[in-house]
Amino acid sequence: MTPSDDGLFSALMQRGVSRRTFVKFCAAMAGALALPATYAPRIAAAIGSAPRIPIIWLRGQGCGGDGDALLRAASPTVSELLLDLVSVDYSETMMAAAGAAADLALTETMATYSDRYFAVVEGAVPLADDGVFGLTGGRVFRDVVREVCDGALATIAAGSCACDGGLAGAAGGRTGAVGVGAVVGTDRLVNLPGCPVNAANLTATVVHYLTFNELPPRDVRGRPLFAYGGLVHNQCERRSHFEYGEFVLAWGDEAAQKGWCLYKMGCKGPETFANCPTIRYGEGASWPVKAGHGCIGCTMPAFWDTMSPFYQRLPSPLPFAPDLTVDQVGGAAFAGVAALTAAHGAASYVRQRVLGHRTRRGDQQQPVPGPGSAPPPAEATPPEAPEPAEATPPEAPEPTEATPPEAPEPTEATPPEVLVPTEATQPEAHEPPESEPSRAPGPAEPPVDAPSPEPDPFAPEPG
Ligand code: SF4
Ligand code: F3S
Repeated sequence: MTPSDDGLFSALMQRGVSRRTFVKFCAAMAGALALPATYAPRIAAAIGSAPRIPIIWLRGQGCGGDGDALLRAASPTVSELLLDLVSVDYSETMMAAAGAAADLALTETMATYSDRYFAVVEGAVPLADDGVFGLTGGRVFRDVVREVCDGALATIAAGSCACDGGLAGAAGGRTGAVGVGAVVGTDRLVNLPGCPVNAANLTATVVHYLTFNELPPRDVRGRPLFAYGGLVHNQCERRSHFEYGEFVLAWGDEAAQKGWCLYKMGCKGPETFANCPTIRYGEGASWPVKAGHGCIGCTMPAFWDTMSPFYQRLPSPLPFAPDLTVDQVGGAAFAGVAALTAAHGAASYVRQRVLGHRTRRGDQQQPVPGPGSAPPPAEATPPEAPEPAEATPPEAPEPTEATPPEAPEPTEATPPEVLVPTEATQPEAHEPPESEPSRAPGPAEPPVDAPSPEPDPFAPEPG
């Protein structure tokens, strides 16, 4: 059954989706978008009244796993939801038509829904030898991508291959594979890396557009923050074992059976940004670490090159300290910056007090007005003015018996008389609260994404 243009909710009703299922779906989307549950009614209202948004799904140089991830949803009901909500009008993989009929469907959809459809690209775009490694309908895939994406309201690069070339673009590749962003620009591009892409993140991206009429906020790589804003490691259900130094040391060992941390088996969770632990795959059924396999960082740029070997820890960023991890180096760098900041605060405090003291000396050394000069206004009276002449000779800063305060630093308890002649000037002596050392940032709090003081994962081996 083809969804009608009366709105997605009526299309879903026609497919036998109950209101309860629909509400649950909207609540799940709010969770996927990292929104409070109170947004679920707003999402439901937006989806319910939204017109059908067609999708043109292009498949380039890839294994096809991203389209498969969309089709292989575990629950038939939610699968229907996805297929209704993300209405695929053109897909070489999914559509029944082929050949000229398929080409006609593509051109008709582009003409009918110009600037109102989503272009989803799966797979990389080969550029070598003028793009002959990727042909669609006899045309170079690069040109098809440009044409389709130029007429779309937005483009979604689904999966790591579409984001940066993926496996085809890894070292040794001969096809010049690149991501979609290298061909169509990044203004209206949403990158959803992953191998494969998580269908829930793709759906949530569309739902965000339907609800807020704009694409979700993205990082510098075009990845939505709701999905790629946190480290896998920080959301992992095995994190407590990492903290306690409980690691799997061999596949199938007792620690593996107990579900301990896979860090020493090469898990790249500490270096990978993705929401896999919370949104999971297969309708929330599982994700790699839950299934007993370490994260291989498949959402990270060029992960085939940068995250491999997959079963070894990443090398230390410091060649002279091969056992250090990125996290440990980052933690040390943070502590160093915090210490420098504290030192700077202390130095500022001392400097301000000394400078303030010199300013007062400078005030005392102001030339005495000549006989013809007008007397200075009361508020501009230099500090020594109110003091008796014999107690404050013109060379006040010179250490004399009458003016000894310079050598011992004036303190709050006993400000020297010469330096604090009036009550009006007294606050100056105690002034610099903003540079109080006690207010300088301390080195205690780690950043959100920085791991808390971690046990040295290299020292204690679990028994
Ligand atoms: Fe989870 Fe991997 Fe981090 Fe261990 S290293 S806590 S398995 S993400
Ligand atoms: Fe990929 Fe790691 Fe998630 S391997 S699927 S980013 S847990």
